[in-house]
Amino acid sequence: MKVLKSAKRLTSVIARFKKKGKRIGFVPTMGFLHEGHLSLVRKARRENDIVAVSIFVNPTQFGPHEDYRRYPRHLARDTRLLKREGVDYLFVPSRSSIYPSHFRDYVRPGPLARYLCGPKRPGHFRGVATVVKRLFDIVAPYAAYFGEKDYQQARIIESMVKRFQLPVRIKTSPIVREQDGLAMSSRNRYLSREERISARFLYQALLLARKLVRQQGVRDVRRVKQAVQNVLAPHVTKIDYVAIVHPQTLKPLKRVNHSALIALACYVGRTRLIDNMVVRV
Ligand code: PAF
Repeated sequence: MKVLKSAKRLTSVIARFKKKGKRIGFVPTMGFLHEGHLSLVRKARRENDIVAVSIFVNPTQFGPHEDYRRYPRHLARDTRLLKREGVDYLFVPSRSSIYPSHFRDYVRPGPLARYLCGPKRPGHFRGVATVVKRLFDIVAPYAAYFGEKDYQQARIIESMVKRFQLPVRIKTSPIVREQDGLAMSSRNRYLSREERISARFLYQALLLARKLVRQQGVRDVRRVKQAVQNVLAPHVTKIDYVAIVHPQTLKPLKRVNHSALIALACYVGRTRLIDNMVVRV
């Protein structure tokens, strides 16, 4: 595995492979890798000739009071893990190579950012769309891989790819969970032992919502949301939102008649966790 810091160098290496008709699979990450990331890397490995992974803690997707500074970083460990997965290129750009001083090409995230995490984290999806577009311009992958834990992010990236007509296929993979159901996330690292125990109730709440809809035939979104909140409230510090929305448009639903995305965000201690589940009636 080659570790590259220079965007120019990566672009030229990739261009050579593309000339030979090779498929490049790309997994953008912010590092501190876990099994969720590795499931994406494995899929990219199966489906492409060359696999590139990026590690870049993107400052523009963090709000001023969020965890950019303390976001966990462990490049040596990440490098070992990626080598073991047979990754060809690890791209570790500096801040200035992603955002040169003349950088102005911020990307609007579009209407999907109006819902769920969008209003709670102003500017977040603009930062995500911007960095992903910039990385796609550098890597020019055949396919790029994202996890469904960041469901809204994946839909926003798909819509951005459509809008710019980028020649990249967006592939998504299911959420990878710990044994007790907690969705894997680099931020789980922040949880104390007690918080880690409380955090399992996010998944429990989603399971209850699915049961109400699928087995008990509850259609009224207010009732399902109330039940989810009742599960969460005793265990979390703050419920940021519980939402039941259309899986494509992300618009709030009143009734669950076909399929629905149940999404939630909670603070457990100071740590903000998200989780989701698509429920089909
Ligand atoms: O999902 C993430 O880790 C990040 O949002 C991404 C897509 C790497 C952009 O910084």
